[in-house]
Amino acid sequence: MDKLISAAKSLKGTIDIPGDKSISHRALIFASMANGISKIQNLSTAADCMSTISCLNYLGAKIDRQANSTFIVEGKGRFGFTQPLNILDAGNSGTTIRLLSGLLAGLSFESEITGDKSLRKRPMKRIIDPLSQMGAKISAVDNKNYPPISIIGQKLKSISYTMPVASAQVKTAIMIAGLLCNGTTTIIEKYQSRDHTERMFKYLGADISAAFPKIEIRGGQLTSAEIFIPGDISSAIFFVVAALLVKNSNIKLKNVGLNPTRTGCLTALKKMGANINIIPDETRNEEPLGTIEVSSSKLNAINISAGDIPSMIDEIPILALAATQAEGKTIISGAEELRFKESDRLKAITDGLKRLGASIIEKPDGLEIDGPTPLIGTETESFGDHRLAMTMAIAGLIAEGETKINNFEAVNISFPEFINNLQMLIN
Ligand code: S3P
Repeated sequence: MDKLISAAKSLKGTIDIPGDKSISHRALIFASMANGISKIQNLSTAADCMSTISCLNYLGAKIDRQANSTFIVEGKGRFGFTQPLNILDAGNSGTTIRLLSGLLAGLSFESEITGDKSLRKRPMKRIIDPLSQMGAKISAVDNKNYPPISIIGQKLKSISYTMPVASAQVKTAIMIAGLLCNGTTTIIEKYQSRDHTERMFKYLGADISAAFPKIEIRGGQLTSAEIFIPGDISSAIFFVVAALLVKNSNIKLKNVGLNPTRTGCLTALKKMGANINIIPDETRNEEPLGTIEVSSSKLNAINISAGDIPSMIDEIPILALAATQAEGKTIISGAEELRFKESDRLKAITDGLKRLGASIIEKPDGLEIDGPTPLIGTETESFGDHRLAMTMAIAGLIAEGETKINNFEAVNISFPEFINNLQMLIN
């Protein structure tokens, strides 16, 4: 599906942001591992989370949709899953394949998990290594790094593991496996990645202590609960940047998750001079949330380096667009992890924004962007990556004339409501 986006005059209004994808995956998996019935509200209904539901169904979990975004999960208990009759399909979702590998590693049956063409190019050695150390029989079927992954579940042993890359997916795979062990599993991080698992484990009664850089998790059973999923900051950020860049704009985004391990993008934009006002709400199931108010702003360039990246890992493409409109040279470094996402995001964002006339250079570990540069509408594409599709759409709002984005359906991976929500804000 192609999408045509025209230059916008202003953005105004208040909208609710749909549930966070990262937290939704965790809620589904942990509620399935719990004892008892959990109610999850405001779950993301994006394609990636539907992949997690489908895999959990194949493992015998019972997940019912009660209303649009309200789901009831009947927990199986941590060892209560059954052997799937088919190869599990994680679709496009790195979180699904990596988190479920941590679970499958400790269950007493054989399984195989794979995904779509893009997922089959994403590195899995990062979970195979620590899970093997825990005693799992886990390997990449075709070679050493890429899906499909074949797993023969074992009785796992606890380990102490220092993370070689900052990755919440890898950390969570080890933590899930840690719940299936007898002893204490210790994880040491160099840079803090998102801590949704730590928070939700605590909320669901796990025996965990977590204070960066160290997490200790003891084997044990989770209990069911009511979980409310905050709005996804990684979705909200597209409208935040849109309102900053489109003149005469003023918007409010309600119910957005404001976990500090995710809000690096807001900190960076504020440093660039953005008019962003945050009104905190009550914390729900250990996750802070609130309203974000944004109005059009004049931006300045910024330096972003390795230590900043984990808290804005998914927001670099849209921050790169903001940098094309900022005064001066923005330098982003230490961001080589972006090459292992749904696309090689350093390459794709450079290619995509260059087509619209931006001054952007791809570096081995980052980007250099000169601004401000007027953008001109033209034909571009999603590169099969939801975050690139949405970044190009926001670029289209400030580009002269019309911007055509090919394969725009990629947005459904994280934010199927994107175009409807955007239309509500365009004046
Ligand atoms: C995620 C962690 C990040 C992020 C991804 C979701 C998660 O990946 O990019 O979109 O839900 O834990 P890494 O753990 O590979 O950095």
